[in-house]
Amino acid sequence: MTTADLPQVMAIERASYATPWEEAAYRQALGSEQAYLDVVTFRGEIVGYSGMWHFVDTVHLGTIVSHPAARGKGIGELLLVNVIARATDLNAEHVTLEVRPSNHPARALYEKYHFSEVGYRKNYYRDKEDALLMTSPPLRNLDFQAMVRANFEAALARLAQHFGE
Ligand SMILES: CC(C)(COP(=O)(O)OP(=O)(O)OC[C@H]1O[C@@H](n2cnc3c(N)ncnc32)[C@H](O)[C@@H]1OP(=O)(O)O)[C@@H](O)C(=O)NCCC(=O)NCCS
Repeated sequence: MTTADLPQVMAIERASYATPWEEAAYRQALGSEQAYLDVVTFRGEIVGYSGMWHFVDTVHLGTIVSHPAARGKGIGELLLVNVIARATDLNAEHVTLEVRPSNHPARALYEKYHFSEVGYRKNYYRDKEDALLMTSPPLRNLDFQAMVRANFEAALARLAQHFGE
């Protein structure tokens, strides 16, 4: 992601979250050495993006979004696997994240990749919904890596069906 992407990112952000981030938060993240922001594009348009933060032995997934018109086609998985791969390259032990209990699509995505619930933050979001804390299995676990590879191959086949030209 670059600052040139922000108009498209912000339009998707506002269409996707009850409490969207401000553009300033993305600008700040783009200037941070700890943050890694990635976009997925199709025919020059952004169809998804993610933001992760690296803290010593942990990667925190702060945002993951696919364009509302492009959901259910594998973009969420592409983004999540990319985060897992980057975190593994950075020698992180785990990927952690917060998710709204009411966010069933996101919870299903994380559960598909064997993330588990490890805690709870009361009134975490600006609209006072609580957050569930989730964490990945240990990134170096070989069974986890094999599961990610198998899921990713299936996701790539699904992406090719929808976006292959
Ligand atoms: C969560 C989100 C990123 C998923 O993106 P996506 O591109 O639709 O996801 P994919 O097509 O890659 O689907 C992958 C998996 O996610 C889960 N999933 C996605 N959409 C779902 C839905 N509507 N209902 C239930 N599970 C769903 C499923 O486990 C799915 O795997 P499956 O098809 O084998 O069942 C997307 O819904 C989104 O952008 N939501 C708004 C932003 C948001 O809430 N982000 C998470 C913040 S914690």
